[in-house]
This record gives sequence, structure tokens and C-alpha cells, in this order.
Amino acid sequence: MADKKEQEEEYRFTFPPPSSIYLTTHLSFPVNPMKLKKLFERSVQIGIDADPRGRKFIEKMLKKELDRSKKLEGKEKELYDMERTWNPYSDSRILWGDDNTEVKRLMVGIDIETQEFLLADRLREKGEKIDAVMIHHPEGRALADLDKVMPLQADVYLQAGVPVNHSENLLRPRMDKIWRAIHADNMFRSERTAELLNIPALGCHTITDNLVWAFMEKAICKKQFDDLGEIMNVIFEMPEYAYYAKKGNPPIIVHGSRSSRPGKIVATEFTGGTNGPDEFIEAQSRAGVGTILAMHFTEKEVEKGKEHHLNMIQCSHMASDALGINLLLDILSKEEKKLDVLEVSGFVRFKR
Ligand SMILES: [Fe+2]
Ligand SMILES: [Fe+2]
Repeated sequence: MADKKEQEEEYRFTFPPPSSIYLTTHLSFPVNPMKLKKLFERSVQIGIDADPRGRKFIEKMLKKELDRSKKLEGKEKELYDMERTWNPYSDSRILWGDDNTEVKRLMVGIDIETQEFLLADRLREKGEKIDAVMIHHPEGRALADLDKVMPLQADVYLQAGVPVNHSENLLRPRMDKIWRAIHADNMFRSERTAELLNIPALGCHTITDNLVWAFMEKAICKKQFDDLGEIMNVIFEMPEYAYYAKKGNPPIIVHGSRSSRPGKIVATEFTGGTNGPDEFIEAQSRAGVGTILAMHFTEKEVEKGKEHHLNMIQCSHMASDALGINLLLDILSKEEKKLDVLEVSGFVRFKR
């Protein structure tokens, strides 16, 4: 096990990693046995393939970032996060662990904090095999940099018809607000717990949220429905939503009714770090949107949605996050047949 300093040194000299942006999904990955670093690099690539910005845009963005990083000097160079030159998801990264850890059994949860790491340690003591932990909601450095993934929202809204200049201008103050809010948090407690208990951990946030967005686009937004009731029926058919509905956490229509006609359907609140600015609601109404699907709406968004006559469906937050993780695990398990999952903290495994 390399200590933190050694690990950082290694990162500095091995980026960009061999299986980074320059490889596409057309190539097969010899990932047997799957190592921690490979597992994460592959997850990043899967996230890129489902990204609303498209792979070409991202490759260009990363190339610019790499060029910029080479010109840095002094303190800026010292503090620079080399991860940014190959991983476009600032809210997703390896939190702790030796890159070469073989991962056959993964403990997966939506929120993994100190208590879940203690649970992993306790289970290990009782003989449960856990090679690494996969986290959805960002922790540590991934949380510190959450706001930096938000520009992706401009492309989600562009596809909903909102001009990119509008989105960018609306996003900036919201990103500043998120940055300042997180800035005051005690962000590295879970990371330190993983380190002390020596439990390898990786976080995949926007990576799996992209997968849910792409899935909803295909399964619902691109199809025709007579009313919201028909859309709700399709959502209830999805195993994650059915599971959560049975437990008392179903998808809900927060504005509109089962008989309302949907108009143009968008899934704008599934990826991009966190909720965008409230003004996006009015912007979508002006862009001709009829129905918004979301993991969750803020109260202000619901208020704005009512004001601008938008139908709003709030799919269960946890079921949506579980769906995204399942879509990632489906791809990873096809490439690494031995990958086995232990579900915790809101995650429930359904294979497709
Ligand atoms: Fe999520
Ligand atoms: Fe979430």
C-alpha cells in the first residue's frame, strides 16, 4: 500500500493513463483481473460515451486542459490536479487505495461516509470479502470540485432547446453559490476513514448520472405518450422505481395530472452535479418544453414550474441513482465476469 504522498507522485508521472481518452469503446478491454485504477478509468470512459456533450467535444476539452497544464508554473503548477487532463468528471475519482488492488467484490452505495466504511470494516471482520467500495454522492476531493462539473448542464438544456448563451449565463452564479456552500464543509472525513481502515474506494457521480440521463432520453423523451399517466406507467415498469415504489418512495407527479398531455418531454434534472438555477424552469418553458422529468426538484423549482405551466415528474432520487449505477455495473460486469456486488446505502442491484 503506497502512502498518500507516494500515490500522488505516481499519479503525477503516469497521466494521462494508457487507457484514457484515446481509446474508444470499440476496443475490447483486457480487464481480467480488474484492478482499481483500471476499473475507474473504464468507468470514466463509459461516462464519456453517455455524456450529453459527446466524446469529440470532451476530447477537445481535455486536450486544451492538458496544453494549459503544461504551461503552469510555480504555485499553480504545484497545486494543479493532473486528473483534470484525462478525467472530465471533477466529482468522480479514486478516493483512496492502491491502484493495483484487484477488485472482484465491490461494496456499492449511494452515500458512503464514515458509518458505511465502519460497516465495511465490520463486515470484513465477520468474513465478508470486500475488495473496494464504490460511492455515488461525492466525497473528499470529488465533493470539493462538485461545482466544476456543472457546465455540462448547458448541453443538457441545449438539447431541451435552451440557447447555450442563456444557460451559461444562468449557470455561473449558481456554480459560485455551490462552490461557496461546499467550501465551508468538512469534506475529507470519509476519505480519512477509508485511509485509516485501508479500504480502497472510488467515487462515480456524474459518470452514472450521465447513464441515467441517456437512458431516460431513449426510454421516454424520444417516445410519444398520450398523457403523463402513460409515462408514469413506463417509469413504474423499471425495476429500480418499482422496488422503491413498493417501499413507499414512488415516482410522483408534482405538477400536472395523469391525464395531462406531455408536450415536449425532457430529462434535464438527472445529470450535471446538482440542481441548476431556478431560472432554468422558465427558460425551458420558453423553449417549448411541456414535461420535465427529474430525480428531484427544489421547492423553488416547483413554484416556478407551476407559474410557467410545466408538467413535472419527480422520479425517486435514490431509485434514479441506483439505476445509473446499475447501468455502469452492467457494462463493467460484461467486461469483468468475476465482478460481484454487495449492495448498501440505498443501492439495489438489478441487471439488464
Ligand atoms: Fe446521482
Ligand atoms: Fe443523487
